[in-house]
Amino acid sequence: MRPEPGRRILIEAGEIRVSEEPEWLAVCRSEDLGEDEVVRFDHGGVVYAVYRTQSGLYATDGICTHNHAYLADGLVMDDIIECPLHQGRFHIPTGKAKSSPACVDLRTYAAREADGNVLIGLSRA
Ligand code: FES
Repeated sequence: MRPEPGRRILIEAGEIRVSEEPEWLAVCRSEDLGEDEVVRFDHGGVVYAVYRTQSGLYATDGICTHNHAYLADGLVMDDIIECPLHQGRFHIPTGKAKSSPACVDLRTYAAREADGNVLIGLSRA
């Protein structure tokens, strides 16, 4: 069995699974995303938000689940992003809605750095 590019075959406890490797896309240069900052990243008609907090690099949906506001215009406070429109808050590492009026969680995505770039890991279609 030969996996398609971007997929790996894993054998665990006698079971064969196909693992999806995310597609890693460059968001910005590492020096352009400072601590407690967030940047907007658009790809495939979807808006993402990519953060550097004191605890690491993270990525979430880029539009608030309460209404249509770009989270990259919001305020990063430790591991919290505050929406610029109605000040709803989300926990960045988990995407959990933390304060009203935001009550629906954000999706989260993998993020890392390589070769001086900030990368987001998105599932392959
Ligand atoms: Fe984000 Fe309302 S649009 S809290």
